[in-house]
Amino acid sequence: MSAAELEATAKAMVAKGKGILAIDESTPTIKKRFDTINTESTEESRRTYRDLLITAPGGNEFISGMILFDETIRQSSADGTPFPKAMIDAGMMPGIKVDTGAKDMAGHPGEKITEGLDGLRDRLAEYKSLGAKFAKWRAVITIGDNIPSMACIKANANALARYAALCQEAGIVPMVEPEVLMDANNTIERCYEVTELTLKTLYSELKDQDVAIEHTILKTNMVISGKKCSVQADVQTVADMTVKCLLNNVPAEVPGIVFLSGGQSAELATAHLNAMNATNKDLPWPLSFSYGRALQEPCLNAWAGKTENVEAATKALLHREKCNSLACNGDYDEKMESSA
Ligand code: G3H
Repeated sequence: MSAAELEATAKAMVAKGKGILAIDESTPTIKKRFDTINTESTEESRRTYRDLLITAPGGNEFISGMILFDETIRQSSADGTPFPKAMIDAGMMPGIKVDTGAKDMAGHPGEKITEGLDGLRDRLAEYKSLGAKFAKWRAVITIGDNIPSMACIKANANALARYAALCQEAGIVPMVEPEVLMDANNTIERCYEVTELTLKTLYSELKDQDVAIEHTILKTNMVISGKKCSVQADVQTVADMTVKCLLNNVPAEVPGIVFLSGGQSAELATAHLNAMNATNKDLPWPLSFSYGRALQEPCLNAWAGKTENVEAATKALLHREKCNSLACNGDYDEKMESSA
């Protein structure tokens, strides 16, 4: 893929009113999700569920691409069409999660380092042959007593930069994802500080590794109060502090920024994105979504592993996709939730 193709892919990922559906849960994670609906996680039940998500009619109006897991990129729709082809035929781009997970970081209790660089060049070549246009790598930064350490932030940023360089060499757009977790009892101000330090370190490492920033997509957390914090910042504060942090730390050449949902409710994740776009019309990059749980949860619950629920599940998915698509332009209205 030439530089022009990488640029076109990155731009298409964040085309106006479109976002990315993350369906790249690892096998242990999707099992946890299926446990909540009392459904056994087998290769076939995972295929059936992902088929529903990928082939939802009209989803391509709101979704530019989907992040797949290694198993999923090799699976096919009920009619035998390989998932990547089904997506491309519908005008959506296949993406792939290429890290192999966040592991305990040696010498740094409570912190994680993401693995997966070994053999990555060969894996990327294979994923490219399977149709992948972009790839995701998630680094996890945990807030707690005396953490994150600079060592953890630096090591994760360095791995993200090395993965991004390998992606671009393979003609695949890297979606770099440094995720500051939202689960602790920290204030929104602490989240701001840690997100700022993480983004600064990331862009310095990307530069050191000669990654073409203009051919990357940033997937990041919103600046938000920790879930266990007694004071929860309101929607507009989250929107304002997130945009401020991004403006101060993300180069303008980045073609687009998408958010993870990180355990926010589906409706709150949409409201936050909407407030950012409603109050900021001249940002250097589009702000869009790449949610996993906040797009899937209502759909997963409606499906509950039963064929007879596929229609209701599809409707629930398309509703969330539409709400978030509108939020990309600041046009979402929470009244849409009651009329759904
Ligand atoms: O890497 C994180 C996922 O792709 C997004 O998941 O929206 O459920 O946090 P989430």
